[in-house]
Amino acid sequence: MYIGLDLGTSGLKGILIGEDQTVLAEATAPLTVQRPAEGWSEQSPSDWISAAEAVLDQLAAKGLGQVRGIGLSGHMHGATLLDAGDEVLRPCILWNDTRSHEEAAELDGDPMFRRLTGNIVFPGFTAPKLMWVRTHEPRIWDRVAKILLPKDYLRLWLTGDHVGEMSDAAGTSWLDTGKRDWSDDLLAATGLTRSHMPRLVEGSAISGQLRDALAARWGLPKGVVIAGGGGDNAASGVGVGVVRAGEAFVSLGTSGVLFAANDGYQPDPATAVHTFCHALPNTWHQMGVILAATDALNWYAKLTGTDAAKLTGELGALQAPGKTVFLPYLGGERTPLNSATVRGAFTGLEHATDRAAGTRAVLEGVTYAIRDSRDALAATGTQLEHLLAVGGGSRSDYWLRLIATALDCPVQLPVAGDFGGAFGAARLGLMAATGAGAEIATLPKIARVIDPDPTLKDAFDAGHARFRAAQSAIKDLK
Ligand code: XUL
Repeated sequence: MYIGLDLGTSGLKGILIGEDQTVLAEATAPLTVQRPAEGWSEQSPSDWISAAEAVLDQLAAKGLGQVRGIGLSGHMHGATLLDAGDEVLRPCILWNDTRSHEEAAELDGDPMFRRLTGNIVFPGFTAPKLMWVRTHEPRIWDRVAKILLPKDYLRLWLTGDHVGEMSDAAGTSWLDTGKRDWSDDLLAATGLTRSHMPRLVEGSAISGQLRDALAARWGLPKGVVIAGGGGDNAASGVGVGVVRAGEAFVSLGTSGVLFAANDGYQPDPATAVHTFCHALPNTWHQMGVILAATDALNWYAKLTGTDAAKLTGELGALQAPGKTVFLPYLGGERTPLNSATVRGAFTGLEHATDRAAGTRAVLEGVTYAIRDSRDALAATGTQLEHLLAVGGGSRSDYWLRLIATALDCPVQLPVAGDFGGAFGAARLGLMAATGAGAEIATLPKIARVIDPDPTLKDAFDAGHARFRAAQSAIKDLK
């Protein structure tokens, strides 16, 4: 048996799989995000431990005596700052926190960063956050001894060791992504050294062993190995079998991600596409990232006093877009705009605009933003033949039909089950414990393929053009 733990933004999920990868049990514990100031987004690392304890309590009901490996997945880029005694110095600054946009622009202005990391230095990435702390919280900066990514803090609790892995490390702006190693030059440019970083392993390699006290608490055997794991997107790639060139998925979670696996390292930072190490040795991946996917729908649900499932449930058949355009930039945008200051908008509102028209516009806006990411990937030479759909948003049939039609690309829906970060993490746990490799990261059975609706293609092309015009109009609005 193997356990996968996925530290998500809105909750921690645990999954228990058997030797044949059958899911035996699942458990979740909710997490919240604190937004103490405009553009800020934080979580307390102690809440992650409490959530992991709650999840392991639930999984232990199944009996964990046969567990051999545990894998970790987690939201990327968060700055978890520890002092020399491993005490947490301040709340973790999360992936969708944009306070350090000036520091990001400054680092990005040094060509060494794009050259070595293969990426723009986005405000959500880790290095600019440390620059912000240096300026605004100098007393904390002085005490920083180790910087861990969120799931690697969970690993510290599980194993007692400071260890990171390639896929998550690629989102810090301190990794030489082609070489799969920390860059001393990038670290030095931000006043840090290798000693501030955890040791690195590959995602499918052993990073350490579960502490005896925790094994005894939940009835696991001694010597359970903890795999390196992956950032949530790379771990989802492993979970859904997107580990070979030609395979791709769209993830409709809090953020929206269009993810393609690559054979080699092919960065193209100017497109705002992210190029990161994959969680398996010697593989890389590219992705376009939009900051608000289900986050935008949930925002609209809150505004209209209902929930997202109710909103999408009342839509019926796919309709051509109306006049209303929604720009989903509630907290800035990464691909393709790279703007921390852009904000969302509705345009084309009229007397006839009702709640359902608003819901359609929100889904369309997020979908057009994903289409922008598809175009950015295409500019790097990566073409998508079909897309697997994962994440909470893929429960909406309307949204899947919209994506297939607006991107003119068949969307594959896996059979019911969980193929996300937690499952991918469990697979990485299996690999670390048994020495298996990419061959066990198979594609899921496909329940349904949603084909583009040719009768609506032109209407959505025109809708996307309207979206782009609205985007240009508001892009620099302060
Ligand atoms: C990826 C990114 C998000 C987070 C949260 O670059 O910032 O997808 O990993 O899921």
